[in-house]
Amino acid sequence: MLENPKRYTITAALPYTNGPIHIGHLAGVYVPSDIYARYLRLQGKDVVFVCGSDEHGVAISMKAKKEGITPQEVIDKYDGIIRQSFIDFGITFDNYSRTSAPIHHHTAQDFFKKLYQEGKFIEQTTEQLYDAKADQFLADRFVTGTCPKCENPEAYGDQCERCGSSLNATDLINPKSTITGETPVLKSTKHWFLPLNEYDAFLREWVLEGHKNDWKPNVYGQVKSWVDGGLEPRAVTRDLDWGIDVPVEGAEGKKLYVWFDAPIGYISATKEWAAREGKDWEPYWKNEETKLVHFIGKDNIVFHCIIFPVMLKAEGSYILPDNVPANEFLNLEGNKLSTSKNWAVWLHEYLQDFPDKQDVLRYALTANAPETKDNDFTWKDFQARNNNELAAIFGNFINRVVVLTNKYYDGIIPTPNEFTEVDEQTLTELKAYPSVISSSVERYRFREALSEVMNVARLGNKYLADEEPWKMVKENPERVKTQMYVALQIAAALQTLCEPFLPFTSEKLKTILNTSVLDVNWNSISKKTDLLPAGHKIGEAQILFAQIEDAEIQKQLDKLEASKKANQIANAKAEPQKEVATFDDFTKLDLRVGTILEAEKMPKANKLLVLKVDTGIDVRTIVSGIAEHFSPEEVVGKRVTVLANLAPRALRGVESAGMILMTNTAEGKLVFVNPDTEGVLNGALIS
Ligand code: MF3
Ligand code: ZN
Repeated sequence: MLENPKRYTITAALPYTNGPIHIGHLAGVYVPSDIYARYLRLQGKDVVFVCGSDEHGVAISMKAKKEGITPQEVIDKYDGIIRQSFIDFGITFDNYSRTSAPIHHHTAQDFFKKLYQEGKFIEQTTEQLYDAKADQFLADRFVTGTCPKCENPEAYGDQCERCGSSLNATDLINPKSTITGETPVLKSTKHWFLPLNEYDAFLREWVLEGHKNDWKPNVYGQVKSWVDGGLEPRAVTRDLDWGIDVPVEGAEGKKLYVWFDAPIGYISATKEWAAREGKDWEPYWKNEETKLVHFIGKDNIVFHCIIFPVMLKAEGSYILPDNVPANEFLNLEGNKLSTSKNWAVWLHEYLQDFPDKQDVLRYALTANAPETKDNDFTWKDFQARNNNELAAIFGNFINRVVVLTNKYYDGIIPTPNEFTEVDEQTLTELKAYPSVISSSVERYRFREALSEVMNVARLGNKYLADEEPWKMVKENPERVKTQMYVALQIAAALQTLCEPFLPFTSEKLKTILNTSVLDVNWNSISKKTDLLPAGHKIGEAQILFAQIEDAEIQKQLDKLEASKKANQIANAKAEPQKEVATFDDFTKLDLRVGTILEAEKMPKANKLLVLKVDTGIDVRTIVSGIAEHFSPEEVVGKRVTVLANLAPRALRGVESAGMILMTNTAEGKLVFVNPDTEGVLNGALIS
């Protein structure tokens, strides 16, 4: 770990522009990286925070095929949506670039050329998977099959998302083309390979020795198991038509592998930023005193901890990441987030329903961040975080301080009298928070850091509850001046300390407390006792966190329920046909139309209703297992199909003479097989 770096280069994984982004992306990568960048800037550090759209790769081509538009149209559409989501949620990239930008094409091609010229690649003609029907080589997401390591039947040609292994398409067992569904054949083609196996010693020394203690155990453990498992050369070129041209002779029609070009996007984004700002980009990538940190999700670990570092090492002039604090996955209401199943909270949709609650989502996602294990986002938790924490603790404290200051002193900070022991203690405690929070943030423990920020608000609430200035104000107004003064210092500290986590709230607080005219910063909190000096005038109170009502939460749950249903319908598969029945077999069945006349619950049985059914020939008793789906009242009067000649049998001592035919809807709901019965009399035979 680099001590006292001179500058920081912070990267956030480039999102694929094949769809909008959802809460999983925000929780795993963009909120933590933004907290870190904002925190460092508050410390006055030299920071560049970059990201951009990942616009190559098979994911984009597949989306274009599916929507019947060009890859360029796909990337333009989603680049726009994603860019806006980042702005809306206050993610403060210094530059958000695109891998389709010319500067990136040049940077990636130059990088490739340098490795090529220095003989860092192996050039090899090998047999690769080929879809003869589509007349196309298959790699990456164009092919699925069974993972040779964990037997996941849905592994991709470059990676298994279940076990995280990085794969070559030819490793897959039973490969299938995702374009045509065909089984591919082998066809020979020339490619350039990065010989990862030659970097075994480097990786062992750099990660396994060098970062044993400062990398997260989940990240370190994955790297170790790959290195121990033996690394193989990896192709960095592809036979595709969407991507960056391989810039060497004999490679016509070939493109760079997306995972070769995309991480170089961090470098191009830095170059673009530096050019705009009139700065030199090189120290941010080549100076040993720069701390490089990659924020990613766990499915990106192999690319950021093995492949990209090997590329940087092979190139020779770059620094290596100091840390890669990858997060685990966030689930949603108990299920894996999924773009294709529409099981997600899309950021642009969230904002339509909660237009001014960006911080509430940032808060809920950080408080529940999947830092050490997969975690679940639930709407109930979201509501509770807002109502019971943000509103009840943070909002309540600020509101009391601001309202009382306006009420007692017309908003002007009073001159305190002598501090009591409690005042001194409270102020001392307050002064310790910046370093407590720093220490958590610097170890990438953002949920811990956030809970310390909330403890500052708790400190304020406790102080007010113990001191009760609203009671003291009659008997000892001089004492109240000191109390309010102390409480106001806590409010001012909170405004700064919450900024990395709750930037919109911090901005509002800045207006309320009128602190832009003052010198309140991270480091002054532990030094000064007059963050808000006597005589300073603050503004009016505003509601920081409105209550979130049950109905708003229910609306979100209903939305998820609807996408679950839509999915079930889309994926519903009919049961296979049963064995052949002869015509005679069929005519044996006496199927006829009837009406349910009466219904009651079978005593002591959850599932059974006792029905009286008019079959046209008689009125008889039929016991039916539908009580969990229908109440007796609901079924009386229903026209139904009856199997009348089913051999009678006793159920719980009641003789049942027949059966009512039922079926299931796509969502699994039981319904009556109810022929269009208008004009059909009870007893009509079905044949
Ligand atoms: N687009 C990739 C994903 O969403 C991440 C690319 S990160 C980079 O999984 F390093 F390649 F930029
Ligand atoms: Zn696997």
